[in-house]
Amino acid sequence: MWSKFLEAVILSGCLTQLTHAQSLPAPVTSGYSQTDLDRLWQSVEQGGVPVVKANVTRVLEPLANFSVGPEPPRFRPAYLQATTQNIELPKGFLYGVSTAATQVEGAVKEGGRGPSNWDWGCHNNITVCNNEVPDVTVNEYYQYKQDIQRVKAMGVNAFSFSIAWARILPFGHRGSPVSEEGLQFYDNFIDELLKNGIEPVATLFHWDTPLNLMSQYGAFLNNSIVEDFDNYASIAFQRYGKKVKTWFTFNEPHVYCDQYAAYPYNSLYTGGINATTAPYTCVPNLIKAHAVAVQTYRGLISEGKIAKGKIALKHDGQRPIPFDSNSASDREVVERRADIYIGIFSQPIYVDGNYPKRVLDTIPASILRRFTDDEKKIIKGSADFYAIDSYATIVAKTPPNGIEACASNVNDPNWPICQDISDNVSQYSTQSGWAVGAAADPLSPWLADTSQWLRYQLNWLTKTYPTPGGIYISEFGFAEPYEYLRTENYQLAWDERRSNYLLDYLNAALLAIHEDKIDLRGMLIWTPIDNFEWNLATQQKFGLQHVNHSTPGLDRTYKLSFFQVRDFFKQHLVG
Ligand code: NOJ
Repeated sequence: MWSKFLEAVILSGCLTQLTHAQSLPAPVTSGYSQTDLDRLWQSVEQGGVPVVKANVTRVLEPLANFSVGPEPPRFRPAYLQATTQNIELPKGFLYGVSTAATQVEGAVKEGGRGPSNWDWGCHNNITVCNNEVPDVTVNEYYQYKQDIQRVKAMGVNAFSFSIAWARILPFGHRGSPVSEEGLQFYDNFIDELLKNGIEPVATLFHWDTPLNLMSQYGAFLNNSIVEDFDNYASIAFQRYGKKVKTWFTFNEPHVYCDQYAAYPYNSLYTGGINATTAPYTCVPNLIKAHAVAVQTYRGLISEGKIAKGKIALKHDGQRPIPFDSNSASDREVVERRADIYIGIFSQPIYVDGNYPKRVLDTIPASILRRFTDDEKKIIKGSADFYAIDSYATIVAKTPPNGIEACASNVNDPNWPICQDISDNVSQYSTQSGWAVGAAADPLSPWLADTSQWLRYQLNWLTKTYPTPGGIYISEFGFAEPYEYLRTENYQLAWDERRSNYLLDYLNAALLAIHEDKIDLRGMLIWTPIDNFEWNLATQQKFGLQHVNHSTPGLDRTYKLSFFQVRDFFKQHLVG
């Protein structure tokens, strides 16, 4: 998948204009005064877009007279669920929703938080973020108690959120000050979940990179990130490790490393790194940062300093289906995509500490650093379970120049996977000419309702990356087509295609568990509330709830999908 930034840049056709518009601030490496922090924020605002605050700037208490409101009319005929209606989910199944700090928190400059790449990137080139900034988003920083109350009404037993590194360490690195106010925010948030009987699931890194680390050494383009991430992770584990028992180190490592191909990371290139190679400079640094943090986590558990819990990372991507199943070449593209996209992260962690052969054969060591034997030892086995953000299945087609010509040419636009991605249509149309499934909003052309392929994904993943901890779908969700054009409440609430996607997907999961005996232990829906969808900002909506941005309190309303998911789990969840 392309970097979200790159996607925006290409769509808006202004790559040259965006290359080095503003320069990054000089890094802060000692002193760490308020003046230093202010200077970092000034560099965010240097382009003339000031940071703004929400209308609500105190924590709102849960409502005393809360109700979900009127129930929607029947949506689907009961016979559609006939095959699955009596199937129960396994005991202890994790049912929840998922969010990320940048996308929901807002209050970016409050509580002593330092700026991140997204603050800097959106403010300095606002067109990259659809002319919006992530300063407020849905103001969860102040409205989390009511948001948790609203989500509880869905019957969830888990809530996945991410911690903003720069809220805990405004300057990012080891030895720099830790913000007690930042730590306290997540303590409060976690306590509120626990008070409501909801298990907190924490992600340490959901793409928001402390700006100071970008300035200092290029963030994940440099090996120093390993030590700094470990320092941050260790602070978080020690503070929250008695209350949080399920952790993710990184969200979607492939999508994240791909972001290094574009703005604003492209201003960090040194020593021959370029847009083609930068993602692969990131890969080993990220994998090592993950493995070292997991070692720290396990160490803290065995010293009895924190509760026994489990840890993994949230993989991304999928094994495609061949465009032409009779074509050996298309079938090989399927394997290449699976190995080079997912396997590049999964095989080292779950299989043997090393990259898959197709990766080693295609990406030279000068671009993708090889692991030493000592590194392999700490990487292999550095996850207690498997987790994947699994949204959709795409179609793999051989590029016009063939796999070999592509694989041997680093400058080929389809290198290194060598899947023809010249247009999204070829990813989603099958050889028969039909789409692979119902399309999501055209602003998210990577997404369609392909739930008929979920069992295929789960069977392959569990066979290829086996783990005694089972598999979790750490994100799945849908962008309702053209939702942003709707104006009436009854239209906004009727998210029929999202509801279909979620129900189809959940029913496919039931069959995967019961017919294929997949050890699926949890599913987290992206996302409880419309939020800041990166470069598409608030325009692109994935939420089970709508947010009215023209009201001072950013009023939330439930959509049809909220009720469908609630009722599905009411029927299938036991204990
Ligand atoms: C996965 C990412 O983790 C999340 O941040 C994003 O909003 C969703 N996909 C939808 O694109």
